[in-house]
Amino acid sequence: MQLSLATWRDVEQYLVTSRGIIIPVGATEQHGPNGLIGTDHLDAEFIAKGVGDKIGAMVAPTLAYGMSQHHLGFAGSVTLRPSTMIAMVADIVRSLARHGFERFFFINGHAGNIGTMTAAFDEIYASLSLQPNGHPSPIRCRMLMWSDEKRASSIAEELYPGVNGAHATAAEVSLSQFYHPETVKPVEMSPEVAPPFAPFYDCVDFRTRYPDGRIGSAPSRSRPEHGERLFAAAVEDMVEAYQAFMA
Ligand code: NI
Repeated sequence: MQLSLATWRDVEQYLVTSRGIIIPVGATEQHGPNGLIGTDHLDAEFIAKGVGDKIGAMVAPTLAYGMSQHHLGFAGSVTLRPSTMIAMVADIVRSLARHGFERFFFINGHAGNIGTMTAAFDEIYASLSLQPNGHPSPIRCRMLMWSDEKRASSIAEELYPGVNGAHATAAEVSLSQFYHPETVKPVEMSPEVAPPFAPFYDCVDFRTRYPDGRIGSAPSRSRPEHGERLFAAAVEDMVEAYQAFMA
């Protein structure tokens, strides 16, 4: 069930049976020469809807913008400041908690969000802990990167051994090619495998280190049929993790 397509009566009814909600979170940022700007949020949303369809969990609207300051050297990239994103996530969780949601399961498509999302969860818990005479709160937040979990990551390793990379990965590009095959573009990349991950700072520094936007990846190897396998694996990974979180 999608929150966007439900009525308030549907939501009340859902809350009788479950207090959990899945929230896809990603980014709007460059993904190398053949990856879509929306890769991170589109992938997270596609997987979240797959989980919702499979087990009847509520799926909230996608957080399509994320912490992407390091990608601003490339056209089309948009960032939220960490402070903006923390405030947005905290307001969304508190709004939904107001109605009775207790378990917030974020499916994340962008590693650059991890620090900020973790800080947002701490902001929420801190505001609960700081209440005088506070009562135990049932609010629990969890976030997983779909690409890090066991089934999806082992398929990525099988398909692109040692070169899935850290940004504009072959796996995330394959997944977007599966649900948007009309966007597939054969692009020559040189070098075929991008320079490996190393610490970077602002967006000018990032572009100097990674001139075509990729980190350690070889997304010229991406294929829609790889994306189909990755999708099935990621949905299974996330169903398992969501059910464990709700138990
Ligand atoms: Ni990405």
